[in-house]
Amino acid sequence: MEGKVPFLPATASAHAGEMNWLFAGLVATSVFILLLVFGLMIVFCVRYRKGSGADRGDRMTKTWRVEVAWTAATFVLFMGLYAWGANLYIDLHRPPADATDIYVVGKQWMWKVEHPGGQKEIDALHVPVGRPVRLVLSSEDVIHDFAIPAFRIRQDAVPGRYETLWFTPTAVGDYHLFCAEFCGTDHARMGGTITVMEPGDFQRWLDQQGAMETLAQEGAALFRQYGCSGCHGAASTVHAPPLDGLFGRPVPLASGETVVADDRYIRDSILMPKAQVAAGYPPIMPSFAGQIGEDDLLKIVAYIKSLGTKERPAR
Ligand code: CUA
Repeated sequence: MEGKVPFLPATASAHAGEMNWLFAGLVATSVFILLLVFGLMIVFCVRYRKGSGADRGDRMTKTWRVEVAWTAATFVLFMGLYAWGANLYIDLHRPPADATDIYVVGKQWMWKVEHPGGQKEIDALHVPVGRPVRLVLSSEDVIHDFAIPAFRIRQDAVPGRYETLWFTPTAVGDYHLFCAEFCGTDHARMGGTITVMEPGDFQRWLDQQGAMETLAQEGAALFRQYGCSGCHGAASTVHAPPLDGLFGRPVPLASGETVVADDRYIRDSILMPKAQVAAGYPPIMPSFAGQIGEDDLLKIVAYIKSLGTKERPAR
């Protein structure tokens, strides 16, 4: 189901077509059950109305076969719908490895967007058509919800954690962006425009934003400014975990568990360093909760991500 479907917004992402089928499947199932129940009700009302000559004898007969059959049929039908929806949901939370990361911070009442190259936007998001994009969402104050109806996606932006979401736009154009979670006085006005461009146009748009530091470069400066380099830098005498090549690797913890060093782990380690201490290191890192805003955190995470990869900025 691609293109324009009546009563639905444009179908403009790789998942949107299947989402339309799922929606159609749910509607069809509901209509079928509705008609079945109301149809039978009407039939019985008419047949057994007062004064009708219908046979009312033999009321105690009960067949288990009918009972089991309709219970099993409904069970299978609804488990099928559940499996279909769950499969799609899981897929929407498993971005492909080559997806571009774009960072989004919600705050009362705007969306702040940062591209990996350092380009910033407010209440707007430019993306290339046909390329997977992974959004890393956070919030500076209350719960917001990043919703793009044309892509059939939405995801809460929750203060204190990173949520991710991905999509591949399939049609060039402008689409609505909404906040879909009530977040205060100007909730209704918290929205913007998603602009899907040809990859060439998108590259030109990125270039036009002017020369700027990439997110990772800005993060490197903050890494020094907040004093992180004092312990985690190459010349440090403090016994702190090295961060080179850390991102995406499993980290053994003092508790015996192992976690993968993703955006979330790094963010939590900065704000709550005592929660998941790397094995073999003393728990001496101070918490930076309340000192580093969401914007700066994203940059520091981007910097740590860049360590040990080819886009590594000069320190
Ligand atoms: Cu932000 Cu509603």
